[in-house]
Amino acid sequence: MSTTWLVTGGAGFIGSNFVRLALEESRADKVVVLDALTYAGNLENLLPYLEGDKRLVFVRGDIAKAPDVEAVFAEHAPTQVFHFAAESHVDRSIDDPAPFVYTNVLGTQVLLNAARRHATKRFVMVSTDEVYGALALGTTDRFHEKLPYNPSSPYAASKASADLLAKAMFHTYGMDVVITNCSNNYGPYQFPEKLIPLMIMNAFAGESLPVYGDGLYVRDWIHVEDHCRGVMAVAERGRAGETYCIGTENEQPNIAIVRKILELTGRDESLIRYVKDRPGHDRRYSIDPTKVKAETGWSPQIAWEEGIRSTVEWYRSNAQWLQRIKSGEFRSYYDKMYAGR
Ligand code: NAD
Ligand code: DAU
Repeated sequence: MSTTWLVTGGAGFIGSNFVRLALEESRADKVVVLDALTYAGNLENLLPYLEGDKRLVFVRGDIAKAPDVEAVFAEHAPTQVFHFAAESHVDRSIDDPAPFVYTNVLGTQVLLNAARRHATKRFVMVSTDEVYGALALGTTDRFHEKLPYNPSSPYAASKASADLLAKAMFHTYGMDVVITNCSNNYGPYQFPEKLIPLMIMNAFAGESLPVYGDGLYVRDWIHVEDHCRGVMAVAERGRAGETYCIGTENEQPNIAIVRKILELTGRDESLIRYVKDRPGHDRRYSIDPTKVKAETGWSPQIAWEEGIRSTVEWYRSNAQWLQRIKSGEFRSYYDKMYAGR
């Protein structure tokens, strides 16, 4: 039975890593990417495959627009949906929650409706640990699947709303939905507004590294490839209607990350600048991955020291990729590739 994976947000950071892995490991017969190419969507992330691999189809479209979504389902009849598309940056959600409600809440509902109408076999809702709120420093508390949602930022609230809509589709219509809640990702192709690529980019350029507040906020870092493999494991072996928390038990205070990047880029601590804190900043995240390991057999393969070293190397070897984002040139790929079609 042939498989067609619809990957929303497949031109973004995690989505493009997921598509690459799916194609390299022949996980699906066809992969259809639906992406609006917002400021965070970058076709360059998919370029070699778009040009040379007929199994990959790219569709520019907005998940919150029913006609865009309907056209993709009607033409490609996806067997599985992997829903990555989102507004994903907490700081932007603090500046303006509206696009977060539009894409993350309305967009998810439009997509769920289409998947239901077209009897898609499985809908994988890719979500975040931020739906659970914050943990205190100095405790061993961890996020797990039975915790109630308690989101702090507009971003987290919009993702929590999307998860609840997905769960409602399971309960009300018996739709086959699984949800993943993952911790902070790092790795190649991450848009340089997020902590790790921003610090790497600034360190290379000898520019200051802005650390929010006291720098002692803790995140639980996972390499993007481990996250993608976790999503695939849940898609294959997760139980319908269930939630799976994905993480690698790698808690780090932000300041330790920044120091590590200074070490790996050969810069010194004079670049560190403590700046005004993020409003409502969640103190600590930490994932208990017991359930996803036990039920799907997933386990992480990339240790932090190796992952961060290879990530810094990737950004060093792909300085042009960063440069084309800085200059805005990356936006021209769509016109270059699809002009006249
Ligand atoms: P990203 O911002 O890098 O990419 C988002 C992608 O979605 C972009 O390609 C963008 O063009 C597309 N998009 C945005 N609005 C759209 C719309 N209306 N219609 C179609 N496409 C649209 O995000 P990311 O960091 O790759 O995150 C992907 C998913 O994983 C998100 O759902 C996010 O909540 C979740 N997640 C992210 C992390 C993390 O650390 N980055 C951790 C856990 C979960
Ligand atoms: O936990 C999963 C979430 O991780 C995902 O759902 C989000 O999409 C993703 O953006 C990420 O959210 P964070 O807010 O944790 O990531 P960010 O990279 O923005 O920040 C990580 C930590 O670093 C956080 O404590 C804020 C801090 N920070 C961030 C930036 C951009 C700084 O100190 N300075 C900065 O310049």
